[in-house]
Amino acid sequence: MTTTSDATGLGEIQSGAGRVDVADKAMINSRADVNQLLPLKYRWAWEKYLSGCNNHWMPTEVAMQADIALWKSADGLTADERLMLKRNLGFFATAESLVANNIVLAVYRHLTNPECRQYLLRQAFEEAVHTHTFQYICESLGLDEGELFNMYREVPSITEKDAWALKYTQNLENPDFTTGTTEADQAFLRDLVAFYVVFEGMWFYTGFAQILSLGRRNKMVGIAEQYQYILRDESIHLNFGIDVINQIKIENPHLWNEEFQAEVRAMLTEACALEVAYGKQTMPRGILGLNAESCEQYMHFITDRRAEQIGLAPIFGQAENPFPWMSEMMDLKKEKNFFETRVIEYQTGGGLDWD
Ligand SMILES: [Fe+2]
Ligand SMILES: [Fe+2]
Repeated sequence: MTTTSDATGLGEIQSGAGRVDVADKAMINSRADVNQLLPLKYRWAWEKYLSGCNNHWMPTEVAMQADIALWKSADGLTADERLMLKRNLGFFATAESLVANNIVLAVYRHLTNPECRQYLLRQAFEEAVHTHTFQYICESLGLDEGELFNMYREVPSITEKDAWALKYTQNLENPDFTTGTTEADQAFLRDLVAFYVVFEGMWFYTGFAQILSLGRRNKMVGIAEQYQYILRDESIHLNFGIDVINQIKIENPHLWNEEFQAEVRAMLTEACALEVAYGKQTMPRGILGLNAESCEQYMHFITDRRAEQIGLAPIFGQAENPFPWMSEMMDLKKEKNFFETRVIEYQTGGGLDWD
């Protein structure tokens, strides 16, 4: 061991300790100094940090006039579209903060690698930009902020999703929680699955499909454009989380035993059912081009993809994506913005695994 440090990086400085050897760096329970970014061990984490920076955007850059006019006109949206839109915004308005709080107060402390922490700092800022987006939408459309920001306490299908995820972070934010035992390390992995794979990788996707489906019909195009940017950010968050989970598995194969794999599969199955219930509560009668049944199929497809990405067999066997247009909506880098509200050139964004 060349150098020692506590997991936070805020302990006593070890004057004269050996220099960091890249071989001592590890995802969790590392004893290498977390204050030294170089030498890099996980280039994928650094690359994601750079991609996030190259995708920088702010919600206030997107024009909202067309959305405001449509929202205020009596027959601009159907009653079903209005209900869907409000419950969609209501889910995201607090979900972005829940995800941010999990990163900052639970994940960051236990991920003992400086390049991963560098990405987490970028991600935390992006979650702030996303929360800002919902503040900006709320203000632009003149929505009832109390109604929007309380939906996670007042709309049962949203409460159930958030309460499910909170179980996993509540273990970790306890100041006495430390990794280093199989039990604790598995609790940390469960939290990563709950937030990266489920929250950001599954639960955001019904919401993306709903808004982008409106955007395709030229409705609420400003919000749809903002969702495209959020989706691009979230795709990197998801892929970072998948890489983190898979790297922890490689370094700690004893954690990913058969029993634990079965537990993770059960988590994905439960999370999918919660999302299907949310789809029904946001679209009790469906809207043009989208309904709770097609969203259920889509969620089965997404759940299978996520299972596969962390090395698990498919759960539903839904091989076909019922919304093939979603991948086109995500491909922002090749051309100017789909909705043509402004032209943006992206430096990167390549190498992303959209869907
Ligand atoms: Fe976000
Ligand atoms: Fe995110």
